[in-house]
Amino acid sequence: MELLPAIQKRASIRKYKEGKLSDEQIRLLMEAAMKAPSGMNIRPYRFVVVRDEEMLKKVKTASKYAGYNAPNAIVVIGNTKASPFMWGNDCGAATENILLQAAHMGLGTVWCGLYPIPGNGEAMKKILSLKEEEEAYSLILIGIPAEEKNSRGTYEEGKVTII
Ligand SMILES: Cc1cc2nc3c(=O)[nH]c(=O)nc-3n(C[C@H](O)[C@H](O)[C@H](O)COP(=O)(O)O)c2cc1C
Repeated sequence: MELLPAIQKRASIRKYKEGKLSDEQIRLLMEAAMKAPSGMNIRPYRFVVVRDEEMLKKVKTASKYAGYNAPNAIVVIGNTKASPFMWGNDCGAATENILLQAAHMGLGTVWCGLYPIPGNGEAMKKILSLKEEEEAYSLILIGIPAEEKNSRGTYEEGKVTII
């Protein structure tokens, strides 16, 4: 089981080819999301997968930096009432699992920040008519990549303390 190649393959993709996610692809991505660790295993999230063109245009307006031509999107939504202290962590873990599973499947993604950027979460809350206790955590744009990129992350020894 080689995990590092998928991690190294993941990069933020901002140019996409046409092509909607299949039901099977969505199933695998959602399975990966829901297998992320979750505080007390409350799993206080749900996911809205957007293939519809009209809705796609709308969800991209929630962030100033999501105006890319991705033909699909996934919105990760946290339930603040179900897990007041850990919902954000859980949504972050689920988001990253989606990005890695997508890379493994040859799909490109970019994580567009919603929570806690002022305005972004609120805008998405309106677009998707979320409940009072729900927060829009992240907007993942996803599809077949039209650019080749490597992750910008680099190993920096100075960031590691071994004691
Ligand atoms: C919390 C968060 C919010 C981000 N928001 C955006 C965004 O709104 N638009 C965008 O193009 N990229 C966004 N990114 C992607 C980062 O710019 C990207 O991960 C970083 O530059 C490193 O590049 P890489 O992902 O290709 O390794 C976001 C990433 C994270 C983790």
